[in-house]
Amino acid sequence: MAEIVLLDDLEDPRLRDYVDLRDVQLRLRLEADRGLFLAEGEKVVRRAIESGHQPRSFLMSPRWLDGLADLLDASDVPCFVLDDASIEKLTGFHVHRGALAALQRPELASPQEVLADARRVIVMEDLADHTNVGGAFRAAAALGFDAVLLSPRCADPLYRRAIKVSMGSVFWLPYARVEDWYTAPDVLREAGFTTYAMTLAADSVPIDQVPHDVERLALIVGSEGHGLSPHWEKSADHRVTIPMAAGIDSLNVASSVAVACWELRSR
Ligand SMILES: C[S@@+](CC[C@H](N)C(=O)[O-])C[C@H]1O[C@@H](n2cnc3c(N)ncnc32)[C@H](O)[C@@H]1O
Repeated sequence: MAEIVLLDDLEDPRLRDYVDLRDVQLRLRLEADRGLFLAEGEKVVRRAIESGHQPRSFLMSPRWLDGLADLLDASDVPCFVLDDASIEKLTGFHVHRGALAALQRPELASPQEVLADARRVIVMEDLADHTNVGGAFRAAAALGFDAVLLSPRCADPLYRRAIKVSMGSVFWLPYARVEDWYTAPDVLREAGFTTYAMTLAADSVPIDQVPHDVERLALIVGSEGHGLSPHWEKSADHRVTIPMAAGIDSLNVASSVAVACWELRSR
């Protein structure tokens, strides 16, 4: 059973995992150094633990203890309890849905492991915005895609904002980073995938012309600002587009993933 620890000193070193949650750069460094990630809100904390992630501690105000009693009973890590104003001071924001948990950051699988049993894969190249990464994971998971590959510079799916927007789908949709990004087209090809670059290039094919019987298919989306790299534009087996109404340049990248996953779902 979790030990309930009532605290009032915000300098207490046991609270260090929870400082300054609004400072993205500090958090990225601190979470990587300490091997942790944070889950926010009762539902997301629950999903993190139910999907097998190991908690290091919990932090909440007294009124949230009852709602998470079953998780606390089943856990042997401390649950730090502070009043709402102190939590806001420590974390830098008002935690609407009560509970926070610090969890062990898992070892990532290799791209080959992640691709082994997959048939539908999203490849994210250099997405910078955690909201987009979370939204793309949520869409991919909801529409039956099996796995995600990330470029080395793609934003972290286990960053608090990405987790929240994904509604926890980053916990169960397998993903890996391809460290040598130049080789990513070969990694997919060797695993038997036909690759489709999602692009606004004038010579790309409308996505509804892709046959529905492609056995193993990978969709590659590019960054918010520059779109796909020339390497992927050239290396993909096919280039596909979601035709836009006159005067509209592009979709938000997470929206484009949702449309494409629906169109190219396994059937
Ligand atoms: C916001 S867009 C990038 C726009 C960028 N200025 C460009 O010209 O590619 C981010 C990514 O979303 C995907 N995307 C957005 N709208 C799309 C569309 N209509 N068709 C295909 N892919 C699209 C592409 O993968 C693109 O690289």
